[in-house]
Amino acid sequence: MSDKAIITYNGQSYELPVIEGTENEKAVDISKLRAESGLITLDFGYKNTGATTSAITFLDGEEGILRYRGYSIEELAESASFLEVAYLLIFGELPTKSEFEKFNADITKHTLVHEEIKNILDGFPSKSHPMGVLSSLISSLTAFYPESLDPNRSADQVYLSVIRILAKMPTIAAWAYKNELGHPVNYPDNSLDYCSNFLKMMFAIPSDVYKADSVVADALNKLLILHADHEQNCSTSTVRIVGSSHASLYSAISAGISALWGPLHGGANQAVIEMLEAIRKDGGGVQKFMDKAKDKDDPFRLMGFGHRVYKNFDPRAKIIKKAADSVLAKLGVNDPVLEIAKGLEEVALSDPYFVERKLYPNVDFYSGIIYRALGIPTQMFTVMFALGRLPGWIAQWKEMRENNEPIGRPRQIYTGAKARPFTNIGDR
Ligand code: SDX
Repeated sequence: MSDKAIITYNGQSYELPVIEGTENEKAVDISKLRAESGLITLDFGYKNTGATTSAITFLDGEEGILRYRGYSIEELAESASFLEVAYLLIFGELPTKSEFEKFNADITKHTLVHEEIKNILDGFPSKSHPMGVLSSLISSLTAFYPESLDPNRSADQVYLSVIRILAKMPTIAAWAYKNELGHPVNYPDNSLDYCSNFLKMMFAIPSDVYKADSVVADALNKLLILHADHEQNCSTSTVRIVGSSHASLYSAISAGISALWGPLHGGANQAVIEMLEAIRKDGGGVQKFMDKAKDKDDPFRLMGFGHRVYKNFDPRAKIIKKAADSVLAKLGVNDPVLEIAKGLEEVALSDPYFVERKLYPNVDFYSGIIYRALGIPTQMFTVMFALGRLPGWIAQWKEMRENNEPIGRPRQIYTGAKARPFTNIGDR
């Protein structure tokens, strides 16, 4: 197998190295192409362009494979805790018992947020979308912890910054929800595990004693694991490029939250439920919506379907679909949109438009149905995605910083006006 590629242009041949990853993926290294040939490459949306090498997550879109540091998503979702997976993604190995106990204890120590964050929170109108609140409050951590501004300060400082955001994001997320309700916030209860503590901060109200249902906490644990990382997706690439300018971890994560919010990315889980509800209100027939999704003149897309990389089933969607049945049954929830979703999936998977384009359900197609059964409101679905993706963003930022990668600065092909003289306003 050759380790070289040759580009021939204008009668000149340029030899470029081909690199190979541990899973036999291959890439042409074009680092020297422009200097030698004057050519750059162009690839809208980086559909075929690698931005980096990474040892964190491997996915095979054709085979529907997803592994975190070599462990299959199926095994991790079945047997691990979310904080174990967070440790694995960030530090590269599953923690020993003592490593996990220290990690968990460190996080527990930092779940409280500075009281003055409430002043910022109170500045948001009560109907503010929680994703906007979350992105802003995460960025505000740079004000409360100015030492976090220097990502090169020391390994101990980076560890402390990582622990603080893992510990405080659930508190901030729950406070964003309470702000939307106009309810008083709840403080962390450090006697509880990560998921139960978040659920209590979300749903406890002053007048009653809240105890998180173990079925709900287990389902949340599984959902957070399934969202924990996904190699160089839109929001993770955002985190890496912001971090490449040596901006702080909190600034990079805040930018990642904003990128995730888009309905083509993490915002799809909210858009899926809104689509399923629209179908239910319209009488439950799916064909009309299928026709809209296929109509080039109609901007409507079948939300929760399709993926940049998976051209087979998204393995996370399979796990979530199975979990949806069991969680709703255990909770005694009968949600009519689950049957509508299954009906839509069945019709789409046999429709030539979807089959030809290899459009399958993705991670967002069924996740909202479980979140809803857990009592999580639709506007919080993408916040849940961000909570899950946090360790992946941290791991990718840390890897990029430790590899001392250069500042991200893509090129372009200019298509605007050629040089022309300025004219005074009276002469235009
Ligand atoms: C996530 O990258 C990641 O890893 C992301 C993620 C993660 O974990 O980080 O997996 C999470 O973002 C999942 C995706 C959630 N988004 C949605 O469910 C929104 C609906 N899906 C699409 O908008 C779309 O499928 C994308 C954005 C996900 C992928 O788009 P691509 O790869 O850019 O594909 P494309 O837009 O070029 O579409 C190819 C064709 C087009 O038709 P033609 O021009 O070839 O005729 O497929 C069509 C598209 O119109 N198409 C759809 C469709 N998705 C693609 N048509 C109808 N409904 C859809 N959902």
